[in-house]
Parts: sequence; structure tokens; C-alpha cells
Amino acid sequence: MKTEVVTIDENNLDEEAIKNLKRAGRILEEGGLVAFPTETVYGLGGDARNKESSKKIYAAKGRPSDNPLIVHIYRTEDLYKVASNVPDIALKLADKFWPGPMTMILNKSDLIPLETTGGLDTVAVRMPSNKIAAAMIKEAGGFVAAPSANTSGRPSPTVAQYCIEDLDGKIEMIIDGGAVGIGLESTIIDLTSSKPMILRPGYITFEMLEEVLGKGNVDIDKTIIDANSGLHPKAPGMKYRHYAPKGDLTIVEGSLENVVKYINDNAKKCKQQGKRVGIIATSETKDLYKGDVVKNVGSRNDEEAVAKHLFQILREFDDENVDVMFSESFDRSGIGQAIMNRLLKAAGQHVEKV
Ligand code: TXA
Ligand code: MG
Repeated sequence: MKTEVVTIDENNLDEEAIKNLKRAGRILEEGGLVAFPTETVYGLGGDARNKESSKKIYAAKGRPSDNPLIVHIYRTEDLYKVASNVPDIALKLADKFWPGPMTMILNKSDLIPLETTGGLDTVAVRMPSNKIAAAMIKEAGGFVAAPSANTSGRPSPTVAQYCIEDLDGKIEMIIDGGAVGIGLESTIIDLTSSKPMILRPGYITFEMLEEVLGKGNVDIDKTIIDANSGLHPKAPGMKYRHYAPKGDLTIVEGSLENVVKYINDNAKKCKQQGKRVGIIATSETKDLYKGDVVKNVGSRNDEEAVAKHLFQILREFDDENVDVMFSESFDRSGIGQAIMNRLLKAAGQHVEKV
């Protein structure tokens, strides 16, 4: 299949852009797949109502079909079409955080086939704020199932080039809308349990959700905080070792001085063994390291920058064929919880305390 790549400027949806968005909408309505930008990461879209489209999504990604897809809508009222028994707090959260990087788990309606929800009776719903995404979903009839637009196991794409790397020849269209704003996938909150529970941390933090729902009214899936708890994550996708880079990644935790020394000592040892070493550094430390490839993920004072660059850096390390990687550790509060969640997955939970 020939994959067509079209470029659209989110801030200038001119005649040409509208024409392309209408074509994307038609492809989706006819059962085809389109990769598109959202504010979090790029998504791989298909018509959420069409079970054949969902099957195609799993095939294109090489994703296990028990891992449910998120249904993307473009207006809040459509929440009631994809979900049933919607609790009042869902509307409260939607009013506050939609359009934006929050996904809610609710009981599914008959509109959404089991192929889209990985066989579950619940459905994940999100209304993205990216204007290209919103316009495309509308043109497609309103319901677009979309996982992140990467091959299963690779970091989620933050630019269209990575969608092309993973999906060229497998889908009908890729919309290049430039670099995404956030860089980590949406926060997932399950509203079907007795107490709302965060299943995946993201840009919308625990603290922000608690502010809307009240203190003590939000739980966090234990497996997010303690991966070695022996429990199974509640979001099926969280059990997979996502974002697995080609090289072995170790996270080093401790005082910055100790971390820098540990990484430099070990980088030297690895190099003596003929290995190529990559280091995830910060603006504050990047000049202190002696690795083959040192990458600055951002300033320690700017966790939004760290979130935005993390997946890109993991992909770049793959391209540079490093054998071994070391990363500094980050605070687990606020967005830091999402950053550390993704970093720990990439490292297969390997942390050295120094
Ligand atoms: O930011 C995002 O959420 C991006 C963009 C494209 O919107 N999408 C995304 O989708 O990250 P994906 O498929 O890569 O991750 C969806 C996660 C998986 O871990 C999946 O298991 C979980 O959501 N999920 C989906 N439906 C669920 C359900 N009914 N119950 C529990 N977890 C669910
Ligand atoms: Mg994903």
C-alpha cells in the first residue's frame, strides 16, 4: 500500500488543509487508517464503530488484540453515545480537562464493538485538543479509535517522521502536523471502579484530578508506584514492556554528584568492553559526562521540557545504535510521576541507587 503524507499547520486550517482533512475523514469512514497528531503523541486512527478498522489497527502496529484502543471524540455530548451509565463526575472532569490529555474509562455502549475495546465491557474515551485531530474526527463521523502511532514496543511518536518509520506502506495516510506539545500519552482515569483510579499517569496529574474530585477521592493503580508489587496493572497495555529501546537502559538514582560519578565510571567500563554508551543528561549536567552520545533531555527545573523530549531521545539512541544507556532519575511528583513511569518501563524497571 502507498502511504500518502500530507502536511497541515494546526494554526492555519486553510482551504488546502480542509480538503486534506475531508479526505482523511473519507478514508476513515471507508475503513482505512490515518496517523494524525494530537497534543500528547501521534495516534493511529480508524473508525471506532467498525470492527474491521480496529483489527487493521492491531495488525499495522503488531499489537496484541487484548490491548484496548482509546475512542477519540470531538464534542463532549458524544460521550453519551460511546458510554453508558455515565456518572456525573465524568462530566465534571470533561468540563475541566476536555479538550485535552485526559482519558476516562466508562462502561461501553453498543455503538463500540468489542474488537475496539480488546474484548472489555468498558471503553476509554478522550477528546483531544489538537485542532487537526478535532477536525479530522468530525470529518470521520465523530468516533476515531486510536492507539499511539508506533510499532508495538517502540516509543510513542512525537513527530510525523517516526510514524513514517513505523507505518509507511501499512496505512492509507499520515498527517504531519509538526512536533506534539506534550510528548507523553494522556492520563487515564477509570471511573468504573468504586473510587476513581488513575491507570496511567500523564500531563493531568493526581493533584489536578484531586482538586476537581475532592481530597481523598482519587486512587492510583499500585503498579504505577511499585512495579514490583506482584499485582497486574488494570490497564491491559501497562503490563507490556513499552518503549523498549534497543540498548539496555539503567536509571541511576541518588545525589546528582554520585549519579554523575556512577554513570561516568560505568560508561568508561562499558567502553573498555567495546560497547557504545548513551547518556540521558539534563541541562545542568550535560557537560559533566564522558559518554559516546550524551543527550540533554531538558532542565531539571522544567519537567514539561523533559516530558516533551524523552521519547524522542529514546528513538535517537536507537538510531545511533547504542548498546548501553544510563539516565538520571527525576522527582516523582506532578508530571514527574508520568516521566518516571515511562522511563522505568523503558529500563525494564532497572534502577541503581547510589
Ligand atoms: O495520549 C494518548 O492517550 C494517545 C493519543 C493517540 O490519544 N493514545 C494512546 O493510546 O496512548 P495507546 O493505545 O497507546 O494506550 C492506551 C492505553 C493502553 O494502556 C490500554 O490498555 C488502555 O489505554 N486502555 C484502553 N481501554 C481501556 C479500558 N477499557 N480499560 C482499561 N485500560 C484501557
Ligand atoms: Mg501506546
